[in-house]
Amino acid sequence: MVVPGSQHAEDKMYHPPEGLQKDAHVPDFNCYLELYKKSIEEPDVFWKEVASDFYWKKPPTGHVLQYNFDVTKGNIYVKCMEGAKTNMCYNVLDRNVKDKNLGERVAFYWEGNSPDHHVAITYSQLLGQVCRCANVLKQMGVRKGDRVAIYLPMIPELVYTMLACARIGAVHSIVFAGFSSESLCERILDSQCSILVTADGVYRGEKWINLKQIADEALEKCKEKASATVKRCLVVKHHALRIKSGDVSNEPQTPWDAACDVCWEEVMGQVSEQCEPEWLDAEDPLFILYTSGSTGKPKGVLHTVAGYLLYTSLTFKYVFDHQPDDVYWCTADIGWITGHSYITYGPLANGATSVLFEGIPVHPHVGRFWEVIEKYRVTKFYTAPTAIRLLMKYGKEPLQKYDLSSLRILGTVGEPINPEAWHWYYEVVGQKRCPVVDTFWQTETGGHVLTPLPAATPLKPGSATFPFFGVDPTILNEHGEELEGEAEGYLVFRRPWPGIMRTVYGNQERFENTYFKKFPGFYVTGDGCRRDKDGYYWITGRIDDMINVSGHLLSTAEVESSLTDHGAVAEAAVVSRPHAVKGECLYCFVTLKDCREFNRTLVDELKRQVREKIGPIATPDFIQNAPGLPKTRSD
Ligand code: WT7
Repeated sequence: MVVPGSQHAEDKMYHPPEGLQKDAHVPDFNCYLELYKKSIEEPDVFWKEVASDFYWKKPPTGHVLQYNFDVTKGNIYVKCMEGAKTNMCYNVLDRNVKDKNLGERVAFYWEGNSPDHHVAITYSQLLGQVCRCANVLKQMGVRKGDRVAIYLPMIPELVYTMLACARIGAVHSIVFAGFSSESLCERILDSQCSILVTADGVYRGEKWINLKQIADEALEKCKEKASATVKRCLVVKHHALRIKSGDVSNEPQTPWDAACDVCWEEVMGQVSEQCEPEWLDAEDPLFILYTSGSTGKPKGVLHTVAGYLLYTSLTFKYVFDHQPDDVYWCTADIGWITGHSYITYGPLANGATSVLFEGIPVHPHVGRFWEVIEKYRVTKFYTAPTAIRLLMKYGKEPLQKYDLSSLRILGTVGEPINPEAWHWYYEVVGQKRCPVVDTFWQTETGGHVLTPLPAATPLKPGSATFPFFGVDPTILNEHGEELEGEAEGYLVFRRPWPGIMRTVYGNQERFENTYFKKFPGFYVTGDGCRRDKDGYYWITGRIDDMINVSGHLLSTAEVESSLTDHGAVAEAAVVSRPHAVKGECLYCFVTLKDCREFNRTLVDELKRQVREKIGPIATPDFIQNAPGLPKTRSD
């Protein structure tokens, strides 16, 4: 690695403000280099020190990390803290309340879709609700190792449920509440969930989404496709009522089946606020989260307890330089990995105070984000380039109405950030005071893998800069040869870090084929990457059949198959097209069956079909008639 030094006009460096460096955990670049070296040369010493902050019912027996990354030498595996026993929920809640005396500290400021709806939840309140929910799940028959599907909007109950699962050793599988009933069904069946937790619905801006109805449709589809695995459905029944201030007459209708549905508000009051945590093995599963796969079928990425705890807590602490008086806000949805790692687990493991936001950036007005930052005096703000590009369109004026002087660090995630958006974020939002941490990572990596540290790393707009501790990246050419110095090729990692995924749920073969087969000995990210003369890493985008729309990966094969499911379509091909706000969008070519006519109505029908099959995020932007599609010989 080269220490950043030389400065060229085209890649001007932005140095950390001195004020930030004073109390920072990693105050300068040399300190980063030293710690990085230690993490690579003495991983046992490095990670044991991190682990000493947490509670272990039993200590580990061997090396902190044990692994095989080489398919030619046997099965791929990663083990972290082998032999240890612990509990994630205990570490993020009980430990803070009991050992650190943080019971009265606010864990979350929940801010609803409407500015009138908000509530503060302290660490001890959170612990109480989580224990109640754990007791409810146990009463409903959930046992250690069982999978629990969660289809909830961004309400506190989502956090309660995921932590309740973690407490009793159940494996949560959260499905983003913008996914369709078909996508939900597919995910429930793949991991054979025994319980579904959902809500009556949610307002997204002005629009009411009846989640319970979508959930019911998903369960119907599960029954049609296979023997139903979900026995009971726990429903936050009165979210709408709560936010409508008790006006029952206005409450949207929630479909209800007394044989299967359990009302959250009813049962939570009937159980105890105490629940003993289940002591789990370090490598017991914590959760499954689905991510798009190039074959079209989503992959159930499996993360395990101890490694994920160490990695999300440490990345959160260093990348956002967490300090006790911070108010941190990540605008992602918990339905994605960003929310799992950097709304729930990472911040709570650090005893942080966060904003939990149900709303959207443009409702009830386009200054909503800035309003929330002012309201809670947010110090660390983490969002996606797509949101920045959206808000840039409205100019500076909506921002100037609010006091954003509390901000100290800005973060981005999900997709490469274009220089224009970076400069707007840095100059207009951060007033040139706040470093922008461009964090590169994946559902699979569990936490940040390439990222600046805000007080230590000189920034280059658009570069995710350098590896985090324990991460050992390299760039390969098509023949699998490692490239040194300035180079461009496949971004891969030589060894695991604690937070890396352990397998594709129920499909170890797919795990090995997807990530390890192409270049034996390396984890392959699927991203292209360039290393510049100063050693900075620049992600150049996916090099597989994935398209990144608004920071969400979509598989071209999955969209193609939902197009060809339509009776008029013989064949379909989906490609990426640049989009001013979303970064990339879907451009679809369809070849129609004989005698079918291509017209506006059909285009609308096809767009609706993809939307219904996958979810609104997959709605195609363009559909073009293609009487013949080019093919390559594959024989
Ligand atoms: C893919 C992973 C990580 C949480 C959200 C997405 C792209 C992610 C960056 C970044 C350039 C990025 C990559 C990656 N990506 N962060 N900072 N710069 N590209 O998680 O859905 O698993 O997608 O998102 O292509 O492989 P995901």
